Amino acid sequence: MNLEVADLRLSFGGLLAIDGLSFGVGENEIVSVIGPNGAGKTSAFNCVTGFYRPTAGRILLDGQDVSGRRPEQIAAMGVARTFQNLRLFGELSVLDNVRAGTHLWSRQRAIDALLHTPRFRRTENEVTDEAHRWLDFVGLRGDRAGPARALPYGEQRRVEIARALARRPSLLLLDEPAAGLNHSEKAEMTDLIRRIRELGISIALIEHDMGLVMEVSERVVVLNFGREIADGPPEQVRRDPQVIEAYLGRDAEDSEIAEIIGDGHG
Ligand SMILES: Nc1ncnc2c1ncn2[C@@H]1O[C@H](COP(=O)(O)OP(=O)(O)OP(=O)(O)O)[C@@H](O)[C@H]1O
Ligand SMILES: [Mg+2]
Repeated sequence: MNLEVADLRLSFGGLLAIDGLSFGVGENEIVSVIGPNGAGKTSAFNCVTGFYRPTAGRILLDGQDVSGRRPEQIAAMGVARTFQNLRLFGELSVLDNVRAGTHLWSRQRAIDALLHTPRFRRTENEVTDEAHRWLDFVGLRGDRAGPARALPYGEQRRVEIARALARRPSLLLLDEPAAGLNHSEKAEMTDLIRRIRELGISIALIEHDMGLVMEVSERVVVLNFGREIADGPPEQVRRDPQVIEAYLGRDAEDSEIAEIIGDGHG
């Protein structure tokens, strides 16, 4: 799926959270949106997914203007997301959390459910099998029958991604999927994001981990105070003086800059 965001603006009362943002995610591309805390990254995702109504600008999915549509309508078009702060149903089992992601395509007729018809049971089995396959895909190691809240944090992040994938999306928006993960979990997340793309899914990624961003992205869009300050391939963006300044301020030490732009890491 192709996403095009054109001159997006969003204000909360007097605060301009997004002040003119334009970027695109091409068919089967991985595009990252980065920027300091409060830059407007999550707000931009909330506009794309219909959680926030933009003050101005356009959002196109495969050329169709969807600005102002409701979250369910946008989800039904093939857009799935994960949240910066996990939103699993903690008391539900891991498996049921992922099964919940299938409701868009597996909706049962009430009459079939009431009568437990063969058709109902077939769909239930299909949903369960597919949920297991997505949990395999994301590499979940923990218990699938136990409550989601019992899993370690890194595993819960995978469950959330499995649930988003169970919606069979064409575009996936990931909001800080590597936040709170340790070094080896981050490497696995990098691999997972690549494997999701190999399924033919377009990906928009918000992430603070520069190593991950530089490794997986075709293009990187940089936001600062709601404004876009750079957009280009990772090698170009990470050397952009405005980007370095936005992250570090004018008086940055060379060693800090090296850390951000990834010198010495290949
Ligand atoms: N629902 C809201 N009501 C009022 N202000 C909001 C709301 N959501 C976001 N904001 C404000 O909009 C600005 C952008 O916030 P946003 O969450 O989009 O930033 P972000 O780039 O995702 O930051 P972070 O890296 O910390 O997640 C901030 O000043 C934030 O306080
Ligand atoms: Mg955010």
